[in-house]
Amino acid sequence: MSLLKKADEVRAGFFNTLQEDPARVDLEALRIEYLGRKGKVATLFKQMGQVAPEERAAFGQTLNQLKQELTEALDERESAAAAEKHSTEEAKIDLTLPGIASPAGTYHIITQSLNDMIDIFGRLGFSVAEGPEVESEWRNFDALNILPDHPARDMQDTFFTKSGHVLRTHTSPVQVRLMQSQPPPIRSIMPGKVYRNEAVSARSHAMFHQVEGLYVDKRVTFGELKGTLELFCREYFDEDVKLRFRPSFFPFTEPSSEVDISCFLCHGKGCRICKQTGWLEILGCGMVDPAVFEAVGYDPDKVTGYAFGIGIERPALLRYGIPDIRMFYENDLRFLRQF
Ligand code: DAH
Repeated sequence: MSLLKKADEVRAGFFNTLQEDPARVDLEALRIEYLGRKGKVATLFKQMGQVAPEERAAFGQTLNQLKQELTEALDERESAAAAEKHSTEEAKIDLTLPGIASPAGTYHIITQSLNDMIDIFGRLGFSVAEGPEVESEWRNFDALNILPDHPARDMQDTFFTKSGHVLRTHTSPVQVRLMQSQPPPIRSIMPGKVYRNEAVSARSHAMFHQVEGLYVDKRVTFGELKGTLELFCREYFDEDVKLRFRPSFFPFTEPSSEVDISCFLCHGKGCRICKQTGWLEILGCGMVDPAVFEAVGYDPDKVTGYAFGIGIERPALLRYGIPDIRMFYENDLRFLRQF
């Protein structure tokens, strides 16, 4: 068989294979079989020696053409296959599917409760003030008329620092700071963390939160205190909530009162949470004691005021039926995600 004929056969064999089912043709194997170092085209080149010298140039040209033809055909098929692969991958992306949601954080339940209170009192004209958690003994106790022999000043109840400061046991010292820093009138709430040296249990913690309230001006009355707290409780707990003011004692208010609300779980009928009384104790309040005004440099003959202090954890425990105060601080996401 002449070499030219062999070249024609190689070409025909190549294109036959290439025209088979495109999905099944292995282009890389075909390239090796025909254009590889030991492939069919290379074998033809090796046989050049057998060609008569005067025909050699023309034969060489034919082989070069063949090589180029096959190379181009393969390249074309390869890029077509690549384009097709790309478009089927693209087709796999379904743009109508919902996106992958990244988990959004929420506010801690205590922060939410604080923000709710700030919001309600904000609408009643109260601004927000804050003070440090490490406080002087004077502001935490003395200025609030808590005398040196008061049991609250005992090591058992209070964390003292080596520098002679205390971890504030209530938010009331922020009242003192506020009055020291500006003249009356004042209408503020003071949210924050407080500390007591208590054994941690399901019902009490060594750290918890309070919101303090203070309104000082000329002729502020107990009636205004009642009205404000009633409005707050209706917004915060329940529209139909009832308030009960019980006479009490705090060194920094005179007269003083503790406030119960009708149980918002049983609506006063009596249940396990309110211990069958129909009432829940939620805050302390009263008219600012003249001794406190004197301590901060206000004239008790010219101003009067009311103050109140409300805990955050206890109402939240009651509101959501949480059985253990420690759950607030364990950072268990299964708990936190419920709010
Ligand atoms: N400071 C009190 C406490 O920690 C709460 C309190 C009671 C604050 C009466 C007040 C108040 O401002 O008038 O238990």
